[in-house]
Amino acid sequence: MEKELEKLRETAKKEIAQIKEKKEDLELIRIKYLGRKGLVTKILRIMKQLSPQERKIIGKLANEIKEEIDLLLSLKQEELKRLINKNDLKDDLDITLPGKPLARGKLHPLTKILEEIKVIFEKLNFDIVEGPEVETEYYNFEALNTPPDHPARDMQATFYISDGIVLRTQTSPVQIRVMEKNRPPLRIIAPGRCYRSDAIDASHSPVFHQVEGLVVGKEITFRHLKSIMKIFFRQLFGEDIEIRLTPSFFPFTEPSAEVSVCCVLCKGKGCSVCQQTGWLELFGAGMVDPNVFKAVGYDPEEWTGFAFGGGIERLAMIKYGITDIRLFYENDLRFLKQF
Ligand code: DAH
Repeated sequence: MEKELEKLRETAKKEIAQIKEKKEDLELIRIKYLGRKGLVTKILRIMKQLSPQERKIIGKLANEIKEEIDLLLSLKQEELKRLINKNDLKDDLDITLPGKPLARGKLHPLTKILEEIKVIFEKLNFDIVEGPEVETEYYNFEALNTPPDHPARDMQATFYISDGIVLRTQTSPVQIRVMEKNRPPLRIIAPGRCYRSDAIDASHSPVFHQVEGLVVGKEITFRHLKSIMKIFFRQLFGEDIEIRLTPSFFPFTEPSAEVSVCCVLCKGKGCSVCQQTGWLELFGAGMVDPNVFKAVGYDPEEWTGFAFGGGIERLAMIKYGITDIRLFYENDLRFLKQF
C-alpha cells in the first residue's frame, strides 16, 4: 500500500509539471487525486479497514501526499497566471509599430549663424575673443577716435549705466582691449551682444549682435581687407556672390568702406529687401586709424591693419529669409522649429 501511494505521488507530480497552459487541466488533476472519488481520497476512505499500526503509517503518508498535491496545484496555478499576463502584454505590444518621435531641441538661428561665422574665420586662422557688454566710454568711444563732441556719438543712441559707463553700442571696443593686451601680429574676431536705445521695429532692436574683426601686422593693406571680406561672404552666402566696397566714414578707420554683397534674394536685379539697389550693405570696414594705434601704444609707422564689423541679425535675416528682427527674441516655437 505504501508503494502504491508513493507511485501516486510521483505520477501526480509528473502530471502537474507537464501542464503547460490550460487552467482546466489543473482542475482535472485535482479531481483525479483529491476529488470525492479521487485516488488519494479513496485510500483515505478505506483507512478504517486497516490495522491501527498500518493506519498510522498509511494515514500519515496519504495526508502528506494530499497536502503536497494541493501545494503543487496552487503553485502551478500561480505560474500559469503569470504566463497568461505576460502573453496578454505581448498581444498589446506591437513591436513592429514605429516609435513615437522625440521632440529634439534645435539651435537658435543666431547661434547657428554665429557658429558658421566662427568656423569660417577659424579656418582663416583668426582667434575668437570676447569683451564686456558693460563698457567704459573710453573703450566704446574715446580710444576709437570718437571724442565726446564727435557727431558719430549721436548715431549710436547710447544707454548710460552711470557717468562714464555705458552698455557697449558696438563690438569695436574689443579691438582696443585686445591690442592693449597683445603685441601684433593679430587676427581676431569678436562676436557679442550690443545695445542701442533705438525704437523697436522690423529691422531695429535695442539689443542686437555684432561681429568685429581686426587684423594687425606688417604691411597689411586694403587688398587684404577686400580678399578676407570676399572669402567670408562667399563662404556664408555662396561662392557666386559678388561683393563691393564703397567709400564710407567711421572715426576709427581711414580710409573707411561699406562692404556690400550682391542681393542674394534678387541676384542684383532689385527687390524690396535691397531697396531696389541690387546690393545689401552688411559690414563697415577700413584701415585702422593711426589715432587708434596711438591709443594702444602701437607705432603707426611700424604697424598697419584693417578692421570690419556688422550686425549678426542682418546676416541671419538674409541667409534664412527672415523679414522681421523681432522674431529672433520672441522664442516662438513655430519660428524656432524651422532652423
Ligand atoms: N562699429 C561699427 C558700427 O557699429 C561697425 C564697424 C565699422 C566696425 C567699421 C569696424 C569698422 O570694425 O572698421 O557701426
